[in-house]
Amino acid sequence: MADHHVIIDNLVKTYPGAQKPSVDHVSFSLPRGEMLALLGPSGCGKTTILRMIAGLIDITSGAIRLDGTDVSSIPVYKRNLGMVFQAYALFPHMSVAQNISFGLEMRKVGRAEREERVKKAIDLVKLTGLGERKVSQLSGGQQQRAAIARSLVIEPKLLLLDEPLSNLDAKLRDEMRDEIRDIQARTGVTAIFVTHDQDEALSMADRLAVMSAGRLEQIGTPREIFDRPQTEFVASFIGAGTLFEGKVVEPGLALVDDLQTLRFVGDVPVGSRIKLMIRPHRLRLAQNEGGPNTFKGTVEHIVYRGQILTLNVRCGGRLLQADLPTHAGSLPDKGSEVVLAVAPQDLTLIGEVSP
Ligand SMILES: Nc1ncnc2c1ncn2[C@@H]1O[C@H](COP(=O)(O)OP(=O)(O)OP(=O)(O)O)[C@@H](O)[C@H]1O
Ligand SMILES: [Mg+2]
Repeated sequence: MADHHVIIDNLVKTYPGAQKPSVDHVSFSLPRGEMLALLGPSGCGKTTILRMIAGLIDITSGAIRLDGTDVSSIPVYKRNLGMVFQAYALFPHMSVAQNISFGLEMRKVGRAEREERVKKAIDLVKLTGLGERKVSQLSGGQQQRAAIARSLVIEPKLLLLDEPLSNLDAKLRDEMRDEIRDIQARTGVTAIFVTHDQDEALSMADRLAVMSAGRLEQIGTPREIFDRPQTEFVASFIGAGTLFEGKVVEPGLALVDDLQTLRFVGDVPVGSRIKLMIRPHRLRLAQNEGGPNTFKGTVEHIVYRGQILTLNVRCGGRLLQADLPTHAGSLPDKGSEVVLAVAPQDLTLIGEVSP
């Protein structure tokens, strides 16, 4: 951890007059060149963390280190960070090039070098030829790219992005996701990206930090977060699924909902309480009812989604969601009886699993 590029150490923020901290002992670190997504529901403290890193607000306690240096006492403009926020905050009356050049002028970069770097930044975000346009004459996506160019032109140590895509329509958002990821990979800049959209986080980030109510719930690769959630919050925030709580009655077998048994993979001592989640795409149609990992029920609702068919199946007191591939032969109708099954290795075990 010592040689990590960015280290966030036990960071706390309690706003003046607030009862509870908005950011509560959060620690994480980033190696150089990593893209980390900070993910969580509205109000969990994502923007507050970014604003502390940027130096826009004071920290209550803890430390932020960039390349080994505690930045707490370093003013905003000397931290050398690139920032892209939800509202692009470009100067509307200035041209694209003037906007991008602004940070270089503030840093007293000479004219020739400025022009060179601005041109490069414009090409980088694919706004070639639009340098002289006024910002007010650009589309949303173009403005967003200009904002990114402006933040990158100063060659920041760290790029901070706070929901930069939330103003864009769905199609443009998808394009810009790829674009930002690509720009980040090409420049090798370390980046922290705030979003409350799990698809965005899963598709863009090297690692995800999932937050809830000011606390860091889990940090890991998209795969680790999705397949090995450490908490119930993470399991249900990332991806849909049905949660089962029960007791391990023999090695690899849990009793849930009194009657139902589930075989799972994982070394959990007999007698332990356990939480398991079934993701909709892990369920399949089965022939034989009875035995562990099968659920008999009635199809209450069907939604056709092209590649997949989403079923809501009423099994006793539970409504199970199953996503079935539409090419998988005959599919059930609404009102019909079905048996669903899940393989033991396809169950998501929540919490620590010893190998
Ligand atoms: N200036 C402020 N003064 C007092 N409380 C604040 C201030 N700014 C934010 N908060 C509170 O701190 C908590 C975290 O806010 P923050 O803006 O960091 O959340 P967020 O995760 O970015 O949410 P969103 O996804 O809605 O942007 C919230 O409860 C919010 O009301
Ligand atoms: Mg926010």
